[in-house]
Amino acid sequence: MSNGNGTSPITQVTAADGTVPHIELGDAQLTSAVNSGLQKVENLLRSELQQGEDFVTEKVLHLAKAGGKRFRPMFALIASQYGSEPGSDNVVRAATIVEMTHLATLYHDDVMDEADMRRGVDSANARWDNSIAILAGDILLANVSRIMAQLGTDTVLHFAETFHDLVTGQMRETIGARDGDKVEHYMAVIKEKTGVLIASAGYLGALHAGAPKPVCEALHAFGYDIGMVFQIVDDIIDIFSDPKQSGKNPGTDLREGVFTLPVLYALADTSAAGAELREKLTGPIGDNDELLVEVLGLIEKTDGRERALADVNRLLEHANAQLDSLPEGPHTDALRTLAAMTVARVG
Ligand code: IPE
Ligand code: IPE
Ligand code: MG
Ligand code: MG
Repeated sequence: MSNGNGTSPITQVTAADGTVPHIELGDAQLTSAVNSGLQKVENLLRSELQQGEDFVTEKVLHLAKAGGKRFRPMFALIASQYGSEPGSDNVVRAATIVEMTHLATLYHDDVMDEADMRRGVDSANARWDNSIAILAGDILLANVSRIMAQLGTDTVLHFAETFHDLVTGQMRETIGARDGDKVEHYMAVIKEKTGVLIASAGYLGALHAGAPKPVCEALHAFGYDIGMVFQIVDDIIDIFSDPKQSGKNPGTDLREGVFTLPVLYALADTSAAGAELREKLTGPIGDNDELLVEVLGLIEKTDGRERALADVNRLLEHANAQLDSLPEGPHTDALRTLAAMTVARVG
């Protein structure tokens, strides 16, 4: 349960050696159910990724073992508590396909973003090369299909739509806002590229536990909102945090010329720092480290972070309103804490 002052009783440990993260949810029974589900997800993920030639498994296990918060399976497992079969085998399968899809997108995303660090280790494209990273992502998607085959055609259809939106979001980002409103474009991108998969985690977790349709739908809507919050927070971290916190190199988006929400607001700032930023930040920064440091310094002097955080809080309120239709109790409290946890990352 959120204590209302911005801190959260959820503690989370992500071990660098890839052991399963632990989530503390206040209620002892729920904590135990969700953590034992997370262990099962991890076991299924690892056993699936171990299938195939050694030269393949080495690549796909690289990032799986490196860490990660397992946020999406956590949400799926909490969502499953609303059904008559929480944490069932099919819930574990659903949570695993969402995490595995997420993992595949990380391999592909790091190629597109030319990122060299992920989960505190070399990205696959840096460790090997772009071709290997793309193929490793593809293998992961093949593994997803194999598990999904056990979940029925409704899930296959749902997931096809999810994946279609996710890729559309990545392409929308790549193409850019063109003449359209840049903030609106950004919001559309993050709803698709990040919101949709987190929404699916909640939906499929509840569905495969046998939860009523309106509950699945409320969790789907809630997932979209916290997914968008999750991405804005991630984009704030990309600008303002050190790599020890994120496991990624800061400024990656700026190097690529992808202007995320805090940057868009910083560019619109009317102060002297805003004006200087508009002069200096006109395209991708690439390898120009000096310019990157300068630009990061200027962004910090604007209200970019503050305005992005205001949007985070607005979305968070909207997320919590989606929970109004759900029964009150430890599960709904856990979802409120999960929502708070997405924001706590920026402190
Ligand atoms: C990173 O996702 C990509 C985004 C959608 C922001 P996570 O922050 O969930 O990455 P891991 O799984 O914890 O590494
Ligand atoms: C991540 O987008 C979204 C997907 C992987 C679909 P980003 O490019 O913003 O994520 P990070 O910062 O590299 O994790
Ligand atoms: Mg990226
Ligand atoms: Mg990206």
